[in-house]
Amino acid sequence: MTAPVLPADSPEAIARAAALLREGGLVAMPTETVYGLAADAGNAAAVARLYAAKGRPRFNPLIAHVSGIAMAKRLVEWPALADALASAFWPGPLTLVLPKLADAPVCDLANAGLDSVAIRAPGHAAAQALLTAFGGPLVAPSANPSGGVSPTTAAHVSDGLGEMLDLILDGGPCTVGVESTVIALLDGRATLLRPGGLERDRIEAITGPLAIAGHSDAPASPGMLASHYAPGAAMRLNATVAQAGELLLGFGPIAGDLNLSPTGDLAEAAARLFAALREMDAAGPKLIAVAPIPDEGLGEAINDRLQRAAAPREMP
Ligand code: TXA
Ligand code: MG
Repeated sequence: MTAPVLPADSPEAIARAAALLREGGLVAMPTETVYGLAADAGNAAAVARLYAAKGRPRFNPLIAHVSGIAMAKRLVEWPALADALASAFWPGPLTLVLPKLADAPVCDLANAGLDSVAIRAPGHAAAQALLTAFGGPLVAPSANPSGGVSPTTAAHVSDGLGEMLDLILDGGPCTVGVESTVIALLDGRATLLRPGGLERDRIEAITGPLAIAGHSDAPASPGMLASHYAPGAAMRLNATVAQAGELLLGFGPIAGDLNLSPTGDLAEAAARLFAALREMDAAGPKLIAVAPIPDEGLGEAINDRLQRAAAPREMP
């Protein structure tokens, strides 16, 4: 049976969702980036169910979502740089990885047994209402089967995971459309683990130049698998024309069969990206070709997702 869908702006739906989460249930919630699959961060049985529902490898830690800075301080050490970044960008598409406090209400499974926890205060009103009603941190990976395309509507969630969930809150299409930017604040420096919905230059205005994960002198993010966000069809990037059997995802003046943003607006392109990949994939092409996207601002996150979607597949 597929999970019930309730409007995310209904107080009754939020109360029902909070009650389900307290019982160890799984609830899909809208955020401004993508839909998240929420569970009580402190309930190991619920978190185990969450990993199983997504088919997610257990070495890939989850983000603990908080209502704001006060709740974050119950989970992690809070250096001045965390305060500066959170004050500037929360609630919003920024995740901070910080040292975990011994008494944090986050089970070891949720952060894959690491000494650190990733935390984010989401900007969507329904996510904020749910966190306030629940009164504690909620872990929430993107609400899709592991390795696939992230969901930006309640229908995407229902298509991918409907049978595994207790409730889906429908808050409409996500406005940002790509996942949060993940920054580690460990060992006294700031490292970019995942480009995302908050542009790097806005962060660097506060932190100075970021170290980049994967470079020899920086910590890696355990979840950054080469193949991810992948549709069923194979992908070809930096294409200007479609070849036989291909559909072309356009950008700016390269019209394509579907255009991420005819005016070349990167925010519009990010918001449409995952829905466009799903729509093209549903037409069953041999290959999805994608027009070049400038690698600046939100283009960095878009290109990161496209490169992973095009990478050789690691999953069955
Ligand atoms: O926008 C988002 O971040 C969405 C919405 C639902 O909030 N969530 C999301 O979660 O994208 P997920 O699980 O798909 O991605 C979490 C990322 C992974 O790359 C994971 O490896 C990294 O955060 N991460 C989590 N905890 C970490 C830790 N302690 N150290 C390093 N990386 C961590
Ligand atoms: Mg994900």
